[in-house]
Amino acid sequence: MTMTVQPRHLKLGLAGQEKNWVYAQYELHELEEALERVGKIVPKWREIDIAGNILATTKEPLEAVEQAIKAKDPAKFADAYGRLTATCNACHQSSNVEMIVIQVPKTSPFANQDFRPVKP
Ligand code: HEC
Repeated sequence: MTMTVQPRHLKLGLAGQEKNWVYAQYELHELEEALERVGKIVPKWREIDIAGNILATTKEPLEAVEQAIKAKDPAKFADAYGRLTATCNACHQSSNVEMIVIQVPKTSPFANQDFRPVKP
C-alpha cells in the first residue's frame, strides 16, 4: 500500500491545491493504477479482501475527484479529495490498522518538484 499509493495520493492533493489540473489528471490515473496493483499484489491481508474492497470503496471518491478536475473546480476538488482520504482511513480502521492515518497534505516533501501549472 505504501509503495506507490501514498506518494500518488500526496501528489494528487498537491496538484489540486495548486490548481494544476493537467497534472492532477495524470496523478489521478497513476493513483488508480497503483490501487489496482495493490489489489493484485495483496489480494488478501489477514482475512481482509483487499482486492475487492480497494476498488469498491475508492471508486466513488475517485470519480468525484475526476469530475472536479474536469470542471477545474478547487472547492469540488477539496471536497472529493477529502472524501477519498476518508476512504483510505475507513479501510485502515476496518482492517485493524487504524494507527495508519492519512491526511490531506499541508506541505510538499518533494523539494525538487514544482507542482504549479506550466501554463496557468
Ligand atoms: C481496502 C482497504 C484499504 C484501502 C482502501 C486503503 N488502504 Fe492503506 N492499508 C491497508 C492495509 C490492510 C494496510 C496494512 C498492510 C500491511 O501492513 O502490509 C495499509 C497500509 C497503508 C500504508 C502503510 C503505512 C506505513 O506507514 O508504512 C499507507 C501509507 C497506506 N496504507 C496509505 C493508503 C492511502 C493513501 C489510501 C487511499 C488512497 C489507502 N491506504 C487506502 C488497507 C487499505
